[in-house]
Amino acid sequence: MDRRRFLGGSLAAAGGAVLAGRGIGEAESLSRGQVPGAVAEAEIEGAKFPDGFLWGMATASYQVEGAWNEDGKGESIWDRYAHGVGHIKGGDTGDVACDHYHLYKQDIALMKRLNQKSYRFSISWARIQPDGTGAPNQKGLDHYKRVMDAVLEAGIRPFCTLYHWDLPQGLEDRGGWPNRDLAGYFADYAGILAKELGDRITVWAAFNMPWAFTYYGYGIGIHPPGRAKFGDFLKALHTVALAQGESFRAIKAASSKATVGSAYSMAPGYPKTGSEADRAATARYHAMNNTFFLNAALKGEYPNAFVGEPPYEQMGVRAGDGKLLRAELDWVGFHYYTRRIISDAGGARGGNQQHYGTEIESDAGDANGGRDPYTRFHAVMPTEGPLTHAGLEIWPRGIYDLVTQISHEYNRPIIEITECGCCYMDGPYEKEGGKIPDARRTAFFKGILAELARAIADGAKVRAFHAWSLMDNFEWTDGYSQRYGLTYVDFRDEKRTVKDSGLWYGRVAASNRLQN
Ligand code: FCB
Repeated sequence: MDRRRFLGGSLAAAGGAVLAGRGIGEAESLSRGQVPGAVAEAEIEGAKFPDGFLWGMATASYQVEGAWNEDGKGESIWDRYAHGVGHIKGGDTGDVACDHYHLYKQDIALMKRLNQKSYRFSISWARIQPDGTGAPNQKGLDHYKRVMDAVLEAGIRPFCTLYHWDLPQGLEDRGGWPNRDLAGYFADYAGILAKELGDRITVWAAFNMPWAFTYYGYGIGIHPPGRAKFGDFLKALHTVALAQGESFRAIKAASSKATVGSAYSMAPGYPKTGSEADRAATARYHAMNNTFFLNAALKGEYPNAFVGEPPYEQMGVRAGDGKLLRAELDWVGFHYYTRRIISDAGGARGGNQQHYGTEIESDAGDANGGRDPYTRFHAVMPTEGPLTHAGLEIWPRGIYDLVTQISHEYNRPIIEITECGCCYMDGPYEKEGGKIPDARRTAFFKGILAELARAIADGAKVRAFHAWSLMDNFEWTDGYSQRYGLTYVDFRDEKRTVKDSGLWYGRVAASNRLQN
């Protein structure tokens, strides 16, 4: 996610947001001084996770690996973008990042020390196929084989994301995700990975946050390749959904042990008012931002995210595509960071309305920033609860609502929480011997995990939780100016120091309890 969009300006509307039905009661019952949205201490103390629950940590190739041009790796769109002027805060790049490419052994040992059972990482497509098609690069494959061996030896389950945003530049040169051919190229890549690494990896997710990278990259151009055309976004959506289905089949064909799921970004939406229009807008938001790809896979059709006729023609949908979209995912993965308040954006297209301080999912219809005529909702992040350093509202209850909703809508699937975390800038504190007392991060996880435990107790089949992130890393257009790690990284010498939150999380993993 691009956090900058949350920092811009006032969120006046959100301050007094009405959480139709749900939030209101909570807000009213707050005693003085209590933090809005905070979970009671007793709930945190009582929270328990089932035996065998998979505690894990997550990273992504471009954010941690570095070694951007080593061992035959091709250029990715993030390499190209970060090397361009004026794209990344501070002129930062992922050229070196955490140097995880070379330091993976110590990072895996660190996870083992913290009792981790699952490592969610991503593979850099351009290491495997330097320009995105054709014969694999043996050195790239060998690298990931070595990493997987170390992960398995540490008793950790490898969870592989095939695509965490670093498209080979060669494929962008062929039109990028709006080009339908990429579905086939992606399936080829998936097949290579499953064939070469399927003996070591059994848990595969095709895409990280497919809505986000298509929208940011092609709809509004704030991520590479930096295009801002709503029509390209619509086409990219369909190619990626096809790629999800095609890669599912390619992986299953190449590896009999494979289980395949996804890593969607989801944020529960709450209608701003109880009006029919806001409720309908919230349903469209949920369909577009949360379940668009999930529904395509499990039901072979897109959920109704649109007002009126769905723009299937603009998306490039062809007769018979439903079959290609369909994939019986073995489990459902999604991230939880924050929530949204949704209202109807009204009928008219265009206008000069500015929406600062939030992510406006339907607000970039054309170069002039007009509203798109299809989804017509307005999504804002409220500021009722406290904000992290990145400006995201902390709302523990959101994970309960989201998990419960998905569980209900998709017939109690197995769920993996693929990411959850917060940005705070705490660093080594000399007076405490250089340790990192990041109490706010621990508090963040306590509240959210207590709510997750409650969702599990109420019947949701959640089997894993991955904290974002194993360590501080390259936070996209924010460069190194945001720290999400449970481990502190000094980017001058790559020294890792586990933060207090990381030590706490290690004890949670050992005890399945939050109070330790
Ligand atoms: C998620 C991304 C991840 C990281 C965190 C903070 O949206 O998947 O790469 O940037 O946000």
